[in-house]
Amino acid sequence: MASFIVLLTAVLPLMAKCFLFNGPNWNNLRVTWGMNPFNYNNYATMPRTEQDAILKGFVMKSNCNATRNFVGKRYWKDEDPSVMLLYDVNGYIAGIQIGIAKGLKTGSGDNYPFQQQINAPFVDDGDLYIITAYFTDPATVCTIGRTESDFRTHGTGNVLHIQNGTLPTDVITAPTHEKDLTSTEWTEGKCFPSMELW
Ligand SMILES: *[C@@H]1O[C@H](CO)[C@@H](O)[C@H](O)[C@H]1NC(C)=O
Ligand SMILES: *[C@@H]1O[C@H](CO)[C@@H](O)[C@H](O)[C@H]1NC(C)=O
Repeated sequence: MASFIVLLTAVLPLMAKCFLFNGPNWNNLRVTWGMNPFNYNNYATMPRTEQDAILKGFVMKSNCNATRNFVGKRYWKDEDPSVMLLYDVNGYIAGIQIGIAKGLKTGSGDNYPFQQQINAPFVDDGDLYIITAYFTDPATVCTIGRTESDFRTHGTGNVLHIQNGTLPTDVITAPTHEKDLTSTEWTEGKCFPSMELW
């Protein structure tokens, strides 16, 4: 759990504390926290519809139901696995993945991810290990998807599920309100001040 939180704070910093829901509509999706909020690459806004993703140069890496290991139409840009976006059958954002190329070593020469993290949460996927988070119910992503009205009401999503196993039904559901974190294993990460800007 600790390494999980470290990972999320390092790579998906807008999740956890920095990423709580202000009102009913979660109206953006940004990735890549950086020290300088004015740097173009930091807090990059990600496309929340498949149509917009295509316009922004993302291409489909795999279609819905291509594997049992996750759900969603998966898009990436410039074949960069560090941010891969998942859309439902209707083209609305459903989740996000981070892919780590196999063969990565830590500074001390150990394989990363560590053996005990393989398949929960880092799922073996070809030449990558992937970690997946969903913003909607995974059961609907490749079946009915969201309607335009769902998307208008919820925005990016209405839940935060982090897949911790080889199937999209194996999820950890993050509380959406900080007050619900008490008596859970979630702990406060060490954020830099600018992590809380958004
Ligand atoms: C994730 O799954 C692993 C393997 O089943 C388990 O040991 C671990 O406790 C799970 N993590 C959480 C936060 O539930
Ligand atoms: C994906 O598989 C589910 C379950 O078999 C099926 O109901 C659904 O129609 C499939 N979706 C697509 C887009 O093929």
